[in-house]
Amino acid sequence: MKKIIVANWKMNPQKPKEAERIFNYLLKNLKTKTKALVVVCPPFLYIEKLLNIKKKSRSKAVKLGAQNCFWEEKGAYTGEVSPNMLKAFGIDYVILGHSERRFILGENSQTISRKIKQAIKAGLTPILCIGEPREERKKGKAFQFLEKEIKSSLKGISLQEAKKVIIAYEPIWAIGTGNFCPADDALTVALFIKKVVSKRFGAKTAKSLKVLYGGSIDANNAKSYLKQEAISGLLVGSSSLKPKEFLKIIKTA
Ligand code: 13P
Repeated sequence: MKKIIVANWKMNPQKPKEAERIFNYLLKNLKTKTKALVVVCPPFLYIEKLLNIKKKSRSKAVKLGAQNCFWEEKGAYTGEVSPNMLKAFGIDYVILGHSERRFILGENSQTISRKIKQAIKAGLTPILCIGEPREERKKGKAFQFLEKEIKSSLKGISLQEAKKVIIAYEPIWAIGTGNFCPADDALTVALFIKKVVSKRFGAKTAKSLKVLYGGSIDANNAKSYLKQEAISGLLVGSSSLKPKEFLKIIKTA
């Protein structure tokens, strides 16, 4: 099974030229058939430009994703972007429920589950992010926290919809800290996530569920996760903005 490597650029880079440079580097170096499925999620503003570059290069090695979308199809929602708009542009994936959106922007699982539904309806593959804060882990309550987050984020999601969801385990304490979650621990959590999904949607759905790991991934630690069968890939933040480093991660897969 192909591993999935997702680049979450977050609110970077600051100049479109830099976004083009990073993307061009990837396309140039991933021309040949890659063993991994690579998804780049830039800020909305860069999507069109990068899609045009991709079209021109005729590269099939990289897909594009978004970092968020709204839970309604259309209408008076100032500042929002609908999943339909993303699909119409040629976007295939959307990251939803990232901890930065939950904790900085006040998103909650209720709205995230609505976003998942709408994204699937539009034909996008949602990458649902979950992850416990440091305090919960310290208190020994990480698994309880994660179970609640999974259940509430998937509330109202049908079995057919659940089959289309990818889950990314991103412990908050590991994001942007260099303090990555050891691969063995991440594997334990990946299996736990599948168990929670199995209880709700059945063993078959849990078995085929793709669980990614994210949090301080770099070219040195990527392999320890990718060699685990139950970890289907990686969600990469800052290392995905360093094209050489990111390419190394992809090649590890
Ligand atoms: P870092 O790789 O920078 O720790 O970020 C991880 C992340 O939040 C990806 O979504």
